[in-house]
Amino acid sequence: MKRAKITIVGAGNVGATCAHWCAAAELGDIVLLDIPATESMPKGKALDLMQSSPIVGFDANIVGTNSYDDTANSDVVVITAGIPRKPGMSRDDLLATNAKIVRAVTEELKRTSPNSVIIVVSNPLDAMVQLCQRTSGFPPNRVMGQAGVLDTARYRTFLAMELGVSVEDVSALLMGGHGDTMVPMPTCTSVGGIPILRLLDEKRLGEIVQRARDGGAEIVGLLKTGSAYYAPAAATAQMVEAIVRDKRRLIPCAAYCDKEYGVGGYYVGVPVVLGHGGVQKVVEIQLDPQEQAAFAKSVDAVKSLVATMDKLLAG
Ligand code: NAI
Ligand code: 2OP
Repeated sequence: MKRAKITIVGAGNVGATCAHWCAAAELGDIVLLDIPATESMPKGKALDLMQSSPIVGFDANIVGTNSYDDTANSDVVVITAGIPRKPGMSRDDLLATNAKIVRAVTEELKRTSPNSVIIVVSNPLDAMVQLCQRTSGFPPNRVMGQAGVLDTARYRTFLAMELGVSVEDVSALLMGGHGDTMVPMPTCTSVGGIPILRLLDEKRLGEIVQRARDGGAEIVGLLKTGSAYYAPAAATAQMVEAIVRDKRRLIPCAAYCDKEYGVGGYYVGVPVVLGHGGVQKVVEIQLDPQEQAAFAKSVDAVKSLVATMDKLLAG
């Protein structure tokens, strides 16, 4: 069987680490691209990663490049190009710089990999994925953003730490935008099949949700020179795997919702079935009044972020 071709744009912390997880899981051949100003850096990272293959035991061709020609006809593209947060910055502070980068990157990808599925990672995520879809003109289900897998993983990690159980037994969902308004879903959180509110009281659960919401800022505060990358890259690799292996994972992604949840044509974090070709279905569940109100607030935050981006790009 032909190996999938996976291009990762941005060979920085998230991009290179994502290449690492994808290679180790033998998801396909990988092209790691960065801007010409980085010179041979992507080549160096690709060769170094490739030389780990006899030790780890994976077969994959890994190429580093500054040229989109090498990315031609990719099956899946991951966009991590852009600047990350520094302490004191919100994801939204990255808007002006990253919008120009994501638009330029997407123009190239549209030309070189017109049939690809694109996963956007660059922040502020909900606006960048909207911009990528618009710029590419791809069907909305072939463009999506990574946020929910990461946010939910942080929430699951903190719950497992609190309860002293394996993370494997914690199943959970967070919805909404990748920001301070992300929506906890206690009714969709269980541990070993036991609903979470039978194991924790609401107050403690609220504190854990808040830590998950602040999860990105907590890492920025500790690293001081950039933002998280191991977990974001692993989350993205899980999405790549779902697509190239048609796993039909039911996971949260920033997906295009029009009639779905009454969103009206924006990308927002919702549960989807992810597999061959991208988002195969947005899974609509009944939200209780509290969840519905929190989701509406989060969608409003995404809409205002997109409006700000549009003004910046027009100016
Ligand atoms: P980084 O600074 O380590 O890497 C970014 C790379 O993008 C650099 O190597 C840079 O040269 C490259 N780049 C810049 N402009 C480019 C262009 N036009 N074409 C190709 N490459 C270009 O940053 P890091 O930590 O890898 O983060 C990347 C982005 O991902 C940031 O915007 C960050 O906020 C975001 N992020 C999003 C997460 C999510 O859950 N959605 C989680 C973690 C990071
Ligand atoms: C994170 O959540 C910065 O969005 C990035 O870690």
